[in-house]
Amino acid sequence: MLRNSALPENVITAKKQKPAFAIRMINHWDNMDGSIERGYAGRSLFFADNKISYDAARIHRYARLLASVGINALTINNVNVHHHETALIDDNLLPEVTHLAAIFRQYAIQLFLSVNFAAPIETGDLTTADPFDPEVITWWEQRAASIYQHIPDFGGFVVKADSEHRPGPFTYQRTHADGANMLARALKKHGGLLYWRCFVYNCQQKWYDRSTDRAKAAWDHFSALDGQFDDNVILQIKNGPMDFQVREPVSPLLGAMPGTNKVMELQITQEYTGQQIDLCWLVPQWKAILNFDTQPGSHDALIRDILAGHCQHHRMRHSGVTAVVNVGDHPFWTGHPLAQANLYGYGRLLWDPEVDERELAEEWCKLTLSTDPKTVATVSQMLLSSWQVYENYTAPLGVGWMVQPHHHYGPSIDGYEYDSWGTYHYANRFGLGVDRTQGSGTGYVKQYHPLNCQMYNNPNRCPQELLLFFHHLKYRHVLPSGKTVIQHIYDSHFNGVNQVQDFIQQWDALAVDSHIPKCLFDEVKIRLSKQLNNAEAWRDQVNTYFYRKSGIKDSRNRNIYP
Ligand code: GCU
Repeated sequence: MLRNSALPENVITAKKQKPAFAIRMINHWDNMDGSIERGYAGRSLFFADNKISYDAARIHRYARLLASVGINALTINNVNVHHHETALIDDNLLPEVTHLAAIFRQYAIQLFLSVNFAAPIETGDLTTADPFDPEVITWWEQRAASIYQHIPDFGGFVVKADSEHRPGPFTYQRTHADGANMLARALKKHGGLLYWRCFVYNCQQKWYDRSTDRAKAAWDHFSALDGQFDDNVILQIKNGPMDFQVREPVSPLLGAMPGTNKVMELQITQEYTGQQIDLCWLVPQWKAILNFDTQPGSHDALIRDILAGHCQHHRMRHSGVTAVVNVGDHPFWTGHPLAQANLYGYGRLLWDPEVDERELAEEWCKLTLSTDPKTVATVSQMLLSSWQVYENYTAPLGVGWMVQPHHHYGPSIDGYEYDSWGTYHYANRFGLGVDRTQGSGTGYVKQYHPLNCQMYNNPNRCPQELLLFFHHLKYRHVLPSGKTVIQHIYDSHFNGVNQVQDFIQQWDALAVDSHIPKCLFDEVKIRLSKQLNNAEAWRDQVNTYFYRKSGIKDSRNRNIYP
């Protein structure tokens, strides 16, 4: 990713630095058949044909690349641990895992594995995975002992349990603390850590059940368990209460559970943010999340304070940030060459969350593309505006979703509206949005500190970009911007498409004299033209959908298909 030659002088400084977060992790969602769940950059770097299979030279380059931005831990396999991946902790595969761990060790990166909670059953060894069963306890202790014989500095396990059909302790009427502690104790004497994901919700709810609110689920499942987890368990909490949408409020669970180790999970891979076809630089989103104040007035409870271990209220032995990565075996690593800036920015922010985002964008351009001032100015401005642009032409005002089911690229306004995943917009002929207020709504707002709760609960104080996440509003409701909801929907969708057209012009203007390699230039150009098609599809479908629902015309009389 970084060019070795011609590093600009101002990038290398002799300052002594200390990373802000102790845990700076990467999660691969790679499967052993070589596919990558939510991967948009080719095949796995580690697996093919249900075997461990890799190009050692490339893994060295990858490890060096990660180390160059300060990453210190990674998992190599998907959190959804299927049949073949369950065997990664078997004695016959461990020697090969050991080789990979040895490469990453050279770059000070610790290797972890995602494991299957039901592995004792899946392997055929036992008939139960009950965390209280002595045979299950011994099974995991033996596995841990064997792993540490091969890899003495093995990091530990990541577990997705009782989530989206993955097995977990609920099968045995045990709690998440019971399940997590059993695995953590097997790792403990070897110094290992256990990451337990909090992405737990009912994915089989009825679309007409208005009392169940998926946004509340993580808190409802975990908050009461504070203090019950062993000190080598770390809860892994997604940044938002839903699922990596372009805009969500910060998960209230991150500001809770003061007696429990926590990491925040981000998504670098652009599942809901353009799939590395559309340009969407996520650093501004991540900065906004890290700067969220979980306890207004307390002066040390920003998300970044908590995760850096600076918040007096939170007593954590381990904390930091992890993220689902966006790389594969694509020649540009990330498919879209400019999506590399997301991985780079992730590492840099974890090192220093106060770094200025413009500086960071410019730094990446200089290191990776060109030091030509026009190129740096153009590309960094494209990066800086791209999240807002993507938000403009997709789902409005924090409502989220409206994506094509399953693969999640492109618009489908009602794609999930009558499905079981808890992801609804509730549009009718009067308005849209999810009422999560106290009183008339689901009460999700109550999971926040009282001052944040009051802010979100009041449509006049709720940040505009999150209004439809917290409120069901009439199309004629007037926003803080002075526009009505419906006019905002029309305007932002027309603007979003115009902004993508501007991206194309700006990129084309770099064709002469920018020193960007031709293959990279062409790759970006192709993706920008696909992005324009996508933006137009979103604009036309969203505008027509809401015009048909509301019957309200665009005040500027632009083309909306009837
Ligand atoms: C999302 C994503 C899944 C993934 C899940 C998770 O729902 O679409 O592919 O498995 O998140 O984080 O576990």
